[in-house]
Amino acid sequence: MSPIEDRLFHRTLVEEWPLISHGEGVYLFDTAGKRYLDACAGVHVVSIGHGVREVVEVMFEQAARVCFTYSRFLTQPQLDLADRIAAMTPPGLSRVFFVSGGSEATESAMKMARKYHVAKGNPQKHKVVSRWQSWHGNTIGALSMSGRSPWRRDYSPYLLDFPHIPAPDPYRCTLCREHSECQLYCADEFERVVRQEGSECISAFIAEPILGTSAAGLTPPPDYYPRIREICDRHDILMIVDEVVTGFGRTGLPFGIDHWGVVPDIMATGKGLSSGYTPIAATIAHERVYDAIYGSSSSFTHGHTYGGNPLSCAVALAVQDYIEDRDLISQCAAMGSLLLSQLLPLKDLPIVAQVRGKGLLIGVEFTADKAERTPFDPALGVTSMVVDRALDKGVLIMPGAPGLEDGVAGDHIAISPPFTIEESEVGRIAEVLTEVIQEVSEHLGYACHAVTEPGSKES
Ligand SMILES: Cc1ncc(COP(=O)(O)O)c(C=O)c1O
Repeated sequence: MSPIEDRLFHRTLVEEWPLISHGEGVYLFDTAGKRYLDACAGVHVVSIGHGVREVVEVMFEQAARVCFTYSRFLTQPQLDLADRIAAMTPPGLSRVFFVSGGSEATESAMKMARKYHVAKGNPQKHKVVSRWQSWHGNTIGALSMSGRSPWRRDYSPYLLDFPHIPAPDPYRCTLCREHSECQLYCADEFERVVRQEGSECISAFIAEPILGTSAAGLTPPPDYYPRIREICDRHDILMIVDEVVTGFGRTGLPFGIDHWGVVPDIMATGKGLSSGYTPIAATIAHERVYDAIYGSSSSFTHGHTYGGNPLSCAVALAVQDYIEDRDLISQCAAMGSLLLSQLLPLKDLPIVAQVRGKGLLIGVEFTADKAERTPFDPALGVTSMVVDRALDKGVLIMPGAPGLEDGVAGDHIAISPPFTIEESEVGRIAEVLTEVIQEVSEHLGYACHAVTEPGSKES
């Protein structure tokens, strides 16, 4: 369908929108009968795949019982889902605040941190330190914390004065240039900024444990989060992890931060909680944060109409049951290793700079010159070329957000299929991406040699 034929206020203009009729497993189908392998789980969301009957049956049963109640009441699905989440999170993170989406979750985390410091008698603490390569959402607080410059630019007059530091990124790190090994100077930058701003002003630090939409699969070194935790503790700063993409299994463990064994103070979650079957997200606080807030107040003074609605809670619980009953987080880890091993040979292609990831959260970055590590001119639209050609061949991948390099240039894509993906479908993704990136390389004037056989472990 063309955007001039409908009445939607579109997010972006493209020539033609396929109209989706239904989804089944890892596939979506459009009304023209074309089948798409959903290799990005609809923006890293649909972890259990489309059209799962068990979830739809729970949805129907709960809808028939009650869909919505005023927040003066509790409902059983809400209590059960909070118990389930608390059983999965790192120790102590057991107070669950329900909201409807990832931006509400990160913004609630920001307010929880503020409320905590007010309750503890430190009302000057209000700034959140975040990272330039991060994405925390589109509402004003979430966007203020986010580092994606092209999405901040138009709204900058509304944004809060929050400091940003670089995220660990060995490919383009200049801080440790003089050393053969990473010195974690990017974590030290956090401490420098705390001193610069004054620790009495800083309430929290926020990071996606492993990057999602801004640089899929970019994973900090083992000492990074322990160092961040230690700096937070020394300056009475709360550590918030944004698990909106990484939460509920996508990186092969329940939460992204579990790869470091670090316990944050607050976690923001979303997407995979309900696998997209209903809108729901959650901000999860450590008991000590909750106790501090309710030690001096009888209300958090924050909330959204649909937060904790029984329909979404029942559905999210059914999704988490489905994941647990089928051990899908282990399957995600296994399929992620297989997919990464089949995508690594893409590095043989002249325009591929990086292939990296954890679990089923994998990113591929492009370069115009491998030796110089220069990005493509954004006007060429390399990311769109790759994504559009893959779409033509029936494989949906996600365009990485523009500006990874310097806020303007930097082409990359994300691959993040449902955890239920099978080996043959993993092979299909690798095959199509290899063909497509080869075609785009040739179109851009690069000579391509055959890539290493899919499945080789070359890195
Ligand atoms: C890490 C992260 N946090 C927060 C958000 C915002 O979530 P939502 O779009 O549901 O508001 C996103 C969205 O992509 C995200 O990737």
